[in-house]
Amino acid sequence: MLSNIEGGLDYKTLVLPTAVDPILYVTHRTYRRKNPIPEFFKHWNSRTYLNRASIHRPISPTFTFACLHGLSTIMAPKNRAAYLEAKMSPKLVVRSAPYTSAKAGQIVIKNHALAINPLEWLIQERGNIMFGWLKYPFVLGADNAGEVVEVGPGVTRFKIGDRVLGHCAGTSEPINDSAQGGFQEYTVLLEHMSTPIPESISYERACVLPLGLSTAVCGLFQTDQLSLPLPTSPARKPTGKTLLIWGGSTSVGVNAIQLAISAGYEVITTCSPRNYELVKSLGACGAFDYNSPTVVADIVRAFNSANRISGGAMSIGQGAATKCIDVLSQVQGDKFLSMASYPVPQVLPKHFGAAYTIWTFLTGMVEIWFKSKMNGVKFGTIIASTLIDNGVGKKIYEGYLEKALEMGDLKPFPEPLVVGKGLEFVQEAMDRQKKGVSAKKVVVLL
Ligand SMILES: NC(=O)c1ccc[n+]([C@@H]2O[C@H](COP(=O)([O-])OP(=O)(O)OC[C@H]3O[C@@H](n4cnc5c(N)ncnc54)[C@H](OP(=O)(O)O)[C@@H]3O)[C@@H](O)[C@H]2O)c1
Repeated sequence: MLSNIEGGLDYKTLVLPTAVDPILYVTHRTYRRKNPIPEFFKHWNSRTYLNRASIHRPISPTFTFACLHGLSTIMAPKNRAAYLEAKMSPKLVVRSAPYTSAKAGQIVIKNHALAINPLEWLIQERGNIMFGWLKYPFVLGADNAGEVVEVGPGVTRFKIGDRVLGHCAGTSEPINDSAQGGFQEYTVLLEHMSTPIPESISYERACVLPLGLSTAVCGLFQTDQLSLPLPTSPARKPTGKTLLIWGGSTSVGVNAIQLAISAGYEVITTCSPRNYELVKSLGACGAFDYNSPTVVADIVRAFNSANRISGGAMSIGQGAATKCIDVLSQVQGDKFLSMASYPVPQVLPKHFGAAYTIWTFLTGMVEIWFKSKMNGVKFGTIIASTLIDNGVGKKIYEGYLEKALEMGDLKPFPEPLVVGKGLEFVQEAMDRQKKGVSAKKVVVLL
C-alpha cells in the first residue's frame, strides 16, 4: 500500500510527523466528511495523534495526503481469530490475533461470512496425518466473503470497500500462514484467488463457493486431471461428450456440474433422490441414486443406450472412485478419473486412529490402483491448493467467475445453513458439518 501513496513516500517518511499532526487531523476530518467512512477507518483512534501536536514547519498537501493514507498501515485494526491452539485441540479458542497488512498481490478483507468444509474438522481431529506442516496455533478456514479494507502494492482489481469472495490460502504448504486463514475477522487474500461479488448475491451465499469451486476446477481443468477446455460465460458450444460427476449434491459436485456444462459437456451425476431436482436445476441431464445396488448398471445403460461418449469422470464421496472406474470401463470415450475424495475412514476407532486412517488410505488406494489398471482407466488425485500456483486458479477467479456469477451461469450452491453470528460459532459449525449435511453449506456470519 505504501508504494501506492501519492508522491512515493516510504515508511520512514511517514513516521516523522509530530509536526504535521494538527494538519493531519483537520485533513482527516475533511476527508471523513467528504467520503463515506469505510469499515476499516472505524478502528482508527484519531485522538492519539492530536495529543502530541505542535507545528514546527509548513507541510505540503501531498505530504499530508500521504500521511493520512499511511496511517491506515500504521494504525492497524484490532483482529480476533478462532485458533486451533495445538495439534488436535478439541475446541477452537477465540482470542485476539495480529492484523496483517496486505503485501504485493494481496488484499485484506473484513469478513462478513465464512463457510465450513470437511477439511477443517478432519485437520482438527486427525492432526499431522494431514497437513503436517501447519504451525500451531493456527487459523484454519478456506471460504470467506467480505469487504476489502486494504490493497497491497500492484493490486489493480480491487479497491477499499469492494465486496469480494476468496479462497483463503493459509493451509497450503508453501504458504502455511495463519494470516491467510478464514476463521478470523480480517483475512489476507491473494488477489488472483479473489473475485468481486455481484450486488445481487449476499455475503452469506457468496462464501459457500471457494473451496468447493476450487476443488472442482482442479479436477476438471488442470492438465494433470481431466484437462477440459476452460469454462466460459456464456457456456462453450457442446463438445458432444458426457461427464460423470459422482456426488453431484456435494459442495464440490454442485460446482463441478455447472463448470462442466460451461465447458461444453453434458453431465450425468449421482446423489440421493431428494436432491435430483437440485442437480437437474443446475444442468445435469441425468441423476442416479448412489445407494442403489444397480447404480453402476443404470449409469452404463444411460450412456450406452443413447450412444453417449464419455469425457471422463470425477469421483466425490466415499466409495465413489471404484464405482466410477466400473462405469468408465463399460462406456465409450475418455477413461480418465479425477478423484476428489480419498479412501479415509469417516469415523475413527477410540484407539489407534492414526494407524487405522493410514491403513484404510493405503489399502483403499491400492484397490483403486489395481482396479484402474485392470480396466484401462487412468486416474489423478486432486489437491485443491494446486490451482493457487499453477495459473488455473487465476484464470477462474480473475477470468471467469465474476461474469459467470453476474450472468447466472454459475450459481452459488449449496444453500447456506447458518448456525450463528460471531467467531464463537465456528466450532459449533465445524461440529455440525462433521455430523453430515445434504446439499447444504454450513455458514457462520460475522
Ligand atoms: N481433494 C481435495 O483437495 C478436496 C477438497 C475439498 C473436498 N474434498 C473432498 O470432497 C468430498 C466432498 O466434500 P464437500 O465439502 O463437497 O462435501 P459436503 O458438501 O459436505 O458433502 C455432503 C454431500 O455428500 C453427499 N454424499 C455423502 N456420501 C456420498 C457418497 N458416498 N457418494 C456421493 N455423495 C455422497 C451427500 O449427498 P446426498 O445428501 O444427496 O445423499 C451430501 O449432499 C469430501 O470427501 C472431501 O473430503 C477433497
